[in-house]
Amino acid sequence: MRRTVLAFFVALSAFCGNAFADKFPTHPITIVVPFSAGGPSDAMMRILAERMKTTLGETILVENTTGAGGSIGVGRVVHSPPDGYTVGFGHLGTHVANGAIYKLGYDLVNDLEPVVLLPSNPMVIVSKNAVPAKSLPELLAWLKSQPQPATAGTAGAGSGSHVAGLAFEAAGGITLQYVPYRGTGPALNDLVAGQIDVIVDQLSNSINQVRAGTIRAYAVTDSKRVEQAADIPTTDEAGLPGFHMTLWSGLWVPKGTPRDIVTQLNAAAVDALNDPAVRKQLENLGLQMPPADKLTPQALGAWQQAEIAKWWPIIKAANVKVD
Ligand code: MLT
Repeated sequence: MRRTVLAFFVALSAFCGNAFADKFPTHPITIVVPFSAGGPSDAMMRILAERMKTTLGETILVENTTGAGGSIGVGRVVHSPPDGYTVGFGHLGTHVANGAIYKLGYDLVNDLEPVVLLPSNPMVIVSKNAVPAKSLPELLAWLKSQPQPATAGTAGAGSGSHVAGLAFEAAGGITLQYVPYRGTGPALNDLVAGQIDVIVDQLSNSINQVRAGTIRAYAVTDSKRVEQAADIPTTDEAGLPGFHMTLWSGLWVPKGTPRDIVTQLNAAAVDALNDPAVRKQLENLGLQMPPADKLTPQALGAWQQAEIAKWWPIIKAANVKVD
């Protein structure tokens, strides 16, 4: 009898042990945003994290690990344990452009597992109010007339705002002097204060300052206007046809993270993206939800690799030097 009872409790503890070993999460999850607080990456992630914790049943800590165009924050994720408790936010800049600019010490595709595609938005060309231009052609003329290159705020070499600046230079036949920040949140503060001349910024970051009239917008880098900023013309309408750029974003985890944990993180993000209140908050910033058929981890992986194939030749041709 005693042997049977003992065997039962041994089996029970093994089951419970396994059950506890398989339960995820059992403590707070950290989502690393590789840019400073108050910027567009940070804003989007905090909105999503607030809803993701409901599905996951654990606190989500958003940590801003900044520097080097976001590559320091991505490296923090790459070198974290593959247990699902460290998740990385990133976008076209950090998970594509950085690979063409920096000697990263990690591989953007092979050292990370894709989790889910997140919202995207076009870029918007904005200037300080002191610039005497009321249209994109007038802005281009002003930029070309400056004795020294105008200053353009970015979130560092390889950031989305930097890649967009390079594309603006090429499309407009202009030269800019880049001023790097740890994110476009602080860059925008300096634009409002008149300390720098322009930013090619994520619309979601500049939209409220444009609405308030503290900066001036010239065009969005898309073929159609954004409903929430319908008074801003497209680059096609404003005189730079074909200068289109969409900054997409996503979540990744370290390579080797168990598939069932990736699935749980993906499901929590999809729940957040499908939540009407979350969608309203994000869409009010001019953000566009990812297509419903592109929400699998595999879809993000395929998209990232296609974007690498598209952008690396362009960025390498720009011969960007990072000190
Ligand atoms: C970028 O320029 O890469 C981002 O907008 C930076 C940020 O999110 O702060």
